[in-house]
Amino acid sequence: MKLCVLMGSPRSQGNTAALTQEFLHQWEALGEESRVISLYSCRIQPCLGCMACQECMDGLGCVQQDDFSAIFQEMSGADLILLATPIYAWYCTAPMKALLDRTVYAGNKNYGSQKGPALLAGRYAASLTTCGYPPEKGADLWEEGLKRMCRHSKMNYLGMFCCRDLGRNVPFMDEEKRQGVRAFARTLHSALEVTQHERIT
Ligand SMILES: Cc1cc2nc3c(=O)[nH]c(=O)nc-3n(C[C@H](O)[C@H](O)[C@H](O)COP(=O)(O)O)c2cc1C
Repeated sequence: MKLCVLMGSPRSQGNTAALTQEFLHQWEALGEESRVISLYSCRIQPCLGCMACQECMDGLGCVQQDDFSAIFQEMSGADLILLATPIYAWYCTAPMKALLDRTVYAGNKNYGSQKGPALLAGRYAASLTTCGYPPEKGADLWEEGLKRMCRHSKMNYLGMFCCRDLGRNVPFMDEEKRQGVRAFARTLHSALEVTQHERIT
């Protein structure tokens, strides 16, 4: 089962990275492969709203030449897309937002002269999130946005694992988070196994 992690934290040794690392250990222990894309190392320009993508029915059709197309290809080929992000101003970080803006437009041909396909239809998505406020006040808008984006794109949303960062004087990672994120990885893995089994039978 192929996992594509979109890493949206600028801090390679930060909280989101620590949570993701633990998730990956569990994922690999389940015998599965993964690919991590660090979005801060990629060139992802913001969407220009030019709508050129809406007239291209058999591909992305984006006029911008950067890393978006290669990242989208990785997303398309994955059994699970995991969006790992710290919360910045109640949402994901800027490179992930730029990626999602362009994914929602170029990936859904709903807005042009004719209707076309949802290019990520049937794919599975989940999120690893860290935030400073309690998750229900820090990450609620992000999760709601992600759910709506998945529904709109005919994707399946599998859930979010979110942990609070209590600040500079409190170490972020502890045994509870370690066990929690590992359990989340196992839950996602089981859910995907069920869907694969259903597709075969
Ligand atoms: C620029 C900035 C904006 C932030 N905005 C929020 C916010 O709106 N809500 C929240 O709960 N936490 C917010 N935080 C806290 C981070 O989400 C939290 O510390 C997170 O664990 C950092 O993850 P990282 O170590 O992967 O960078 C913000 C942090 C920064 C640096």
